[in-house]
Amino acid sequence: MDHFSYRNGELFCEDVAVERIADSLGTPLYVYSKATLLAHYRQLADAFAPVKPLICYSVKTNGNINVLRVLAGAGAGFDVVSGGELFRAQAAGGDPDKCVYAGVGKTDAEIRQAVAAGIGLFNVESEAELSNVDAIARQMGKGIRGALRINPDVDPHTHAHITTGKKETKFGIDLDRAGGVFRAFAKVQAADGAPGMHLTGVHIHIGSQITEVEPYVEAVRKVLALIDELRRDGLTMDWLDLGGGFGINYENRHALPASAFAAALLPMLLASKLQIAIEPGRYIAGNAGLLMANVLYLKAGGTKKFVIVDAGMNDLIRPMLYDAFHFIWPTRPGAKFIPPADRTDVSGMAGLETVDVVGPICESGDFFAHARAIPPVQRGQRLAIFSAGAYSFAMSSQYNARPRPAEVLVDGATFRVIRKRETYDDLIALEK
Ligand code: LLP
Repeated sequence: MDHFSYRNGELFCEDVAVERIADSLGTPLYVYSKATLLAHYRQLADAFAPVKPLICYSVKTNGNINVLRVLAGAGAGFDVVSGGELFRAQAAGGDPDKCVYAGVGKTDAEIRQAVAAGIGLFNVESEAELSNVDAIARQMGKGIRGALRINPDVDPHTHAHITTGKKETKFGIDLDRAGGVFRAFAKVQAADGAPGMHLTGVHIHIGSQITEVEPYVEAVRKVLALIDELRRDGLTMDWLDLGGGFGINYENRHALPASAFAAALLPMLLASKLQIAIEPGRYIAGNAGLLMANVLYLKAGGTKKFVIVDAGMNDLIRPMLYDAFHFIWPTRPGAKFIPPADRTDVSGMAGLETVDVVGPICESGDFFAHARAIPPVQRGQRLAIFSAGAYSFAMSSQYNARPRPAEVLVDGATFRVIRKRETYDDLIALEK
């Protein structure tokens, strides 16, 4: 599953004891495993190999250019949703031709930037955007490939804030209207090779942290029916971008391996003869990282016990935003408290204490866990907050004037700082 394991009573990332990293760099601290990033990427590549997919790692998940470099080196393209993400992808050596660009609100400047870079696929989210992108490409004298993001109206059974393929969300074009949009655009579409948009693909992205195959099957079935219809009408359709959303284990064993998603989808995808793209983020990076924090104080509240740590919601906001579960455990728990290798059920372990793990920020939402059973800890001990490789540093802020943590990439027996800890000077660097 990943390359974090307890050996001789302490937590290792690959072959490095994480305590050693924190001893030299302090906490809070993000630690990522290169081998895990690559293993998860390969799981997806192997599972979907029969359709030779373009795998576009979703930059928003964890966009550190060193993480992107690792994945670009393995052959990944990138899913970007802003000019800044395209900039990051290129800075990491990513090939723009292997990049897909989604987002409901692309600005003219961002569209020009992407056209100039030679982006592989524009995932267009509205009729208004379609005509704007087409007009800009014509002005620039460039031909570009496009897909229409379709909202298939399926429920991926995940948190409401990360559900994106239902009718009431802002994403994509309603399935019922999409055929009309393709047909109308086909009449004005530039000839092959001429400047302007060549709209020959469909994009879907139905949500995130999805742990069932049925929503994908339903969405794919719906859009393939549309593609068949359009092909019968003589339109060229050659791309299907399935988006991301493949869930991971945070708390339990409910997540599915990439092979399960692939097994359910491959027969349909192969029959369609379309070029397939996928946009995984969390599946690759989620369990490839953790956040280390130092225990500052233990405190008896009115009704609860609090473990107060030096990381806060500014460093990792997922528990507050999505009620997300992150497994938390001391990095040196002692021989009695070695958790199971898959870090799931610890309920049978004797001697645990039920605590709230909270940060120093002035908000009640500043927590990492409520009523969580963990081994007894003391001031000065370090905790690992697991599954923090995705949407963790990426969503961090300087709230409460807290410099962001450093990020470290472990590779075998070595580690390297891939982003320096911010300083107080960084806090005011852009202020006049
Ligand atoms: N493609 C598109 C168009 C997306 O919007 C996203 C994520 C992905 C791909 C990658 O999805 P993934 O494979 O990682 O599920 N901040 C939230 C997650 C937001 C996801 C946004 N879109 C969280 O922390 O759970």
